[in-house]
Amino acid sequence: SKKPVRVAVTGAAGQIGYALLFRIASGEMLGKDQPVILQLLEIPDEKAQNALKGVIMELEDCAFPLLAGIEAHSDPMTAFKDTDFALLVGARPRGPGMERSDLLAANAQIFTVQGKALNAVASRNVKVLVVGNPANTNAYIAMKSAPDLPAKNFTAMLRLDHNRAASQIAAKTGKAVADIEKLAVWGNHSPTMYADYRYATIGGQSVKAMINDEQWNREVFLPTVGKRGAAIIAARGLSSAASAANAAIDHMRDWALGTNGKWVTMGIPSKGEYGIPAEVMFGYPVTCENGEYKIVEGLEIDAFSQECINKTLNELLEEQNGVKHLL
Ligand code: NAI
Repeated sequence: SKKPVRVAVTGAAGQIGYALLFRIASGEMLGKDQPVILQLLEIPDEKAQNALKGVIMELEDCAFPLLAGIEAHSDPMTAFKDTDFALLVGARPRGPGMERSDLLAANAQIFTVQGKALNAVASRNVKVLVVGNPANTNAYIAMKSAPDLPAKNFTAMLRLDHNRAASQIAAKTGKAVADIEKLAVWGNHSPTMYADYRYATIGGQSVKAMINDEQWNREVFLPTVGKRGAAIIAARGLSSAASAANAAIDHMRDWALGTNGKWVTMGIPSKGEYGIPAEVMFGYPVTCENGEYKIVEGLEIDAFSQECINKTLNELLEEQNGVKHLL
């Protein structure tokens, strides 16, 4: 049987953590033959550490055959020791009266500390996924704080936007979501993201031709996907958690185990592809094979798409600028 791999999860006692850990432990992320050791990080606060103890009791009570160990941590320097996968979920939410700059600064503080800890103690091949918002900028901060690790190991979660877009397209066309290929989401995990179905196909047929309604694209589809997070908060009184955890599982599974040629969306550091400045943590269409992602290149960007890409890029550059002095 395989040797266990180490999976670190931060914010482990939060609502995404509760929807995520049991699925990782059951083998849904890394395969039904891959034992895992969970290295769980929460803030030192007594309430959070107690909540984490409760989650661990429940993990024990599942008696998962693949769960080879569970650790509780309050310090990233121990939580990230030798970790092969790191899911950075915990972040500072926006509190009442908090300015955007305060939010960026609070998260910059968390993600510089965690980036440095990964740099110091994680496996040199660690795959890092940042879920905590602002996810792209937090991933950028962690990457910049870990100069001894390959920059390509740091990614941000755009998969929830990708899955939301796929689901809207399936509903509009009346086709199965599983049959959708070649969907792309560009940019920031925020309402400015650009979900792009110009190249998408279902059963080999063009989704754009099938829908044939540019007004729907611009006035219904893009705003629906972009504001889906807010719609869920309005309906549920809490932010999306199970769907976010599901997207995190999808992202890590595809990165580790491959996509068989299927396009998925990942937030990854640009190397200049599609005119995005180097190092910007940008949502791109990718395929994955042998534990590596590869950007789908050579797609034509028309005027409307360029406009959308510029908008989400400018937002990311502003966020990046807002934390520059803290790095
Ligand atoms: P939550 O508030 O229920 O849980 C967050 C947990 O993180 C809390 O238990 C908190 O104690 C912990 N935490 C805070 N700072 C930490 C630190 N420095 N180290 C370790 N743990 C820390 O929040 P929820 O719903 O689980 O969401 C987590 C994050 O994910 C939020 O930032 C949210 O905005 C983001 N999110 C991102 C999505 C995406 O698509 N990228 C989708 C949905 C949520």
